[in-house]
This record gives sequence, structure tokens and C-alpha cells, in this order.
Amino acid sequence: MSAQPVVQVEDLDVYYGTSQILFGVDLRVQQGETMALLGRNGAGKSTTMKAIMGLAPARRGKVMLRGRVISGLKPHHIARAGLGFVPEDRQIFPDHTVEDNLVIGQKKGAEGQDEWSIRRVYKVFPQLEPLRYRIAGRLSGGEQQMLAIARTLMGNPALLLLDEPSEGLAPIIVQRIGELLRQLRGTGATVLIAEQNMHFCLGLAATPLSSTRARSSTPRQSRISKPTITFASAISRCSRKTDPFLFQADNEWCKLHRVARSPYKSG
Ligand SMILES: Nc1ncnc2c1ncn2[C@@H]1O[C@H](COP(=O)(O)OP(=O)(O)OP(=O)(O)O)[C@@H](O)[C@H]1O
Ligand SMILES: [Mg+2]
Repeated sequence: MSAQPVVQVEDLDVYYGTSQILFGVDLRVQQGETMALLGRNGAGKSTTMKAIMGLAPARRGKVMLRGRVISGLKPHHIARAGLGFVPEDRQIFPDHTVEDNLVIGQKKGAEGQDEWSIRRVYKVFPQLEPLRYRIAGRLSGGEQQMLAIARTLMGNPALLLLDEPSEGLAPIIVQRIGELLRQLRGTGATVLIAEQNMHFCLGLAATPLSSTRARSSTPRQSRISKPTITFASAISRCSRKTDPFLFQADNEWCKLHRVARSPYKSG
């Protein structure tokens, strides 16, 4: 039997006014896993993330954090319960220094968690250390994205939600963000990424996985197919009502949903 997921979404419907955006979305993210939510513009990726964070109203369905229902809670209570969200527009504090942003993001982690400190953040994000006294609003787009991720990690989230971390960045910076996320996976972090950049997500899976227990002990096909199809079919139900070509829930896309598994995951 699989372990309890960190976050589980069941049968989620979200409306903006009278427009239904999500139709019965299901997904689960396991401890130590990096999962990608892929889809084109307007497919509902950000809405899914916002609904998980309590920022978009769920009319039906529920969101659970380690088995505890969190849907219906205020966004700041959801954040306090252990979800760390980096939205599309990053929302750093532009008038504060890099280090102040990190300090502001600091929160106590769960009991027994390997906590993030400023020193640990600078180890994973070495580009930030020489910029520590720089005003965040003057950073480049890529540096701001790194800072947004780093600041959210300082809150020691059980799940880190990243909404299009590659958006608007030069290819070389996208590559660097990809390296950081692979490194993060190595720390055992649990991550949900919304992306439309399929190659970026494939890059996250491109690290050698052969040493992971999950991969070596499970036939490849069965490891990737079941959960990805569950997730993809939920999204395809969502898009079928709005645009049948909005999201492809077969073949390639399906396989890409589950992009990586941490070596810390026991299977
Ligand atoms: N606040 C809102 N009010 C009304 N409609 C909205 C609102 N936010 C999003 N939508 C609509 O919901 C749909 C899904 O939007 P969403 O932002 O979730 O898509 P996305 O997959 O994140 O797209 P992108 O890749 O462009 O970020 C779109 O049709 C969008 O126009
Ligand atoms: Mg979006």
C-alpha cells in the first residue's frame, strides 16, 4: 500500500463567477516527489494551484494535507499548515534586500524536519549570497525567481508549489533554475510545478534515476502509468468541456506528469 500523500486533491470544481474552470480535478503528490502539472495557456494550471492554496474558491471537492482537510481554510492558514506557494508573478518584497526577503520568509518546520536556514539556502542558491544586501526589486528576472523559491523554502513547506518557474526567463537561466530544482529534489523536497514548458520538465527528469529504489524495484511502465493517467484524465475532463484540444491527456503528455522521484522516496 502506498504511503499517505503529502497533498491530495479530490474531485475539485472551481468557478470564477458562472464560468467553470476546473472539472473534477484529482491529484496526489507523495513525499519527496517532484510532480509537473503540464498544460497550455488557460488550461487551468494556476487555478489548480490557487485552489490548493485557498486563493480560488472550490465549489466541490477537497484538498487534504497529510490526510487533513484544508480546503475551506483561509489562505494564510493553509500556508501556515505547510504549503509554500511561488506564484507566477513571484511576489518578492521589492523594497527589501535579498536577505531581508529570506528572513521574512522564515517559519518553523514540522517536527523532525531538516530545516532551511539562510546558510543552507545560500549553499543551494550560491548566486544569491553575493547579492544578499541588494534590493530585491533590482534583481534580474532569474535572480528574482531564485529568491522567490529560496524565500518560500525558508518557510519549511511540506509541499512547494511553483507556478511556471521558467516563465519569461532566458534559456540559460531556465537551465539554471532546472539545475536548482534537481538539486532540491536531492534534498528530499516535495514539489508541484505548473508549467507549459515540456522540455524544462523533461530536463528535471533527466538526472540519473537508475540509483533510485523506486525505479529499480518497479517496472517502468507500471511506475509511471497509473498515477499519471489518473491526474491527466482529471485535467482532460476539465478541458474537454471548454476546448477539446486544450490539453492532451494521452501518450506523451500523460507520461510527463510524473517527472521525477526523489532518491529519498522509498517507493
Ligand atoms: N480571476 C479570474 N476570473 C475569471 N476567469 C479567470 C480568472 N483567472 C483565470 N481565469 C480563467 O480561467 C482559465 C484558466 O486560467 P489559469 O490562469 O488557471 O490557466 P493557466 O493554465 O495557468 O494558463 P497560463 O499558462 O497562461 O498561466 C482561463 O480561461 C482564464 O481566463
Ligand atoms: Mg498560469
